[in-house]
Amino acid sequence: MPKITFITEKPETVTLDVEAGETILDIALDHDIDIEHNCGGNCACTTCHVIIREGFEHLSEMEEEEEDRLDTSPDLTLSSRLACQTLVEGDCVVEIPKNTQAFRKAEQH
Ligand code: FES
Repeated sequence: MPKITFITEKPETVTLDVEAGETILDIALDHDIDIEHNCGGNCACTTCHVIIREGFEHLSEMEEEEEDRLDTSPDLTLSSRLACQTLVEGDCVVEIPKNTQAFRKAEQH
């Protein structure tokens, strides 16, 4: 059973045992971890952008659609993924970028 660790802005880490084949977004939302997802997981925004700190090779391969969408993210890094498009197949460490969370807070006010 894969383990996924989320790094949130506090900063704090949360490590969970998960079923292989779930998306990072679904895992986070199922465990009350905030990841913005404005388009509802349809690869039509970049608000679910996350940075993979470890275990990039344990994730599903990136489709062209995700790659094109990520290219529009202002915070793109070499280990960026869209949480709604990325299936977890093995252990990984996922950072939820501060900008994404700040954006979320700004939107709520
Ligand atoms: S929620 Fe919009 S691309 Fe993931």
